[in-house]
Amino acid sequence: MKKTRHCCSLLLISLMIVLSAASACLGGCGTPAQPAVREVKIAVLTYDDYDTFVNSVTRHMTRWCRQKEKEDDVRITIDIVGAKKSQLTQNDQARNYIQDNYDVLCVNLVDRTDASGIIDKAVASGTPVIFFNREPVSEDLYRWDQLYYVGAIPSQSGELQARIITDALSDPDKFDGIDVNDNGTIQYVMLEGEAGHQDSLVRTSVCTNSIVNAGFSLEKLGDEYANWDRDQARAKMKELIDRYPFQIEMVIANNDDMALGALDALTECDYPLDPFVVGINGTPEALEAVRTMKMDGSVYNDAKSQGETIMEMAYALGQGLPVPDTVELTFDKYVFTPYSIITYDNVQEYLNNEND
Ligand code: GAL
Repeated sequence: MKKTRHCCSLLLISLMIVLSAASACLGGCGTPAQPAVREVKIAVLTYDDYDTFVNSVTRHMTRWCRQKEKEDDVRITIDIVGAKKSQLTQNDQARNYIQDNYDVLCVNLVDRTDASGIIDKAVASGTPVIFFNREPVSEDLYRWDQLYYVGAIPSQSGELQARIITDALSDPDKFDGIDVNDNGTIQYVMLEGEAGHQDSLVRTSVCTNSIVNAGFSLEKLGDEYANWDRDQARAKMKELIDRYPFQIEMVIANNDDMALGALDALTECDYPLDPFVVGINGTPEALEAVRTMKMDGSVYNDAKSQGETIMEMAYALGQGLPVPDTVELTFDKYVFTPYSIITYDNVQEYLNNEND
């Protein structure tokens, strides 16, 4: 009796070995079977809910995830939350996502000089972080090999914005149209984004220095922060118009929303001059304003490519994989998308891309 039971067990064990070998072979003989990925959880933390450009980056992120879910047999959870401009709130949000076992964080810092609260938690829990749009200082980024930054090079946007202006000033007819008081110097006002933001500091100085280095004379009438915001820019521009009722020949804005806010103010105040107005980003409203010649130009900030690259990286890092080869890393840490010039001459191409 005992002997029969022993034989039966041996038979059962041999059968199980044969069956498991067969099923391993079905999974692909020679290649180790990959565990099926069921879900990747991605948290996206933005500095605020109301930023036009950042919202367009996150829209492209969501689109990428929905498309990827269709292509691969995977569920991607993407949760997007704004920090209402408080770094402490954002640190708490990061902690909560880590506690909820999110696989990767994509962080648009509130204060780009204060990334340590988030980095400490990420390192302790082994959660990779992709910072975007608001660039942490390099000392922070180099603290761990699972920290990255995706954005664009601010000096390039300043140079291209200057190029739009110097191209116009180099044409004698256009120069005369801009220099309405005919004194050979362009009187301008500057609308800046935020104090301490890399895109405000660098765009402002590089743009004006490049114009002067190209041999043109500039006179700054006023310089105001409007926090990237159309309404704030409109209010600040009204104050400038009150101070300089006949002098403003040019408006240089660190982004399109502020350029559009300046235009709102000029229209509402019935300003007697028609200043040259330039922005940065190439938002749909700005493209329309360039097409209808209300704005004189903008610099394209590639929200689509930034959003998609962040997701490609997050999807891989969240599964414990390296950054894909398709993503071109600079110094093993940074991805910078190129800026490009938008004027009336090429605006239709950008409008067509918007509709794709
Ligand atoms: C800049 C962009 C601005 C604003 C800012 C927020 O790159 O041009 O419009 O979105 O980022 O950090």
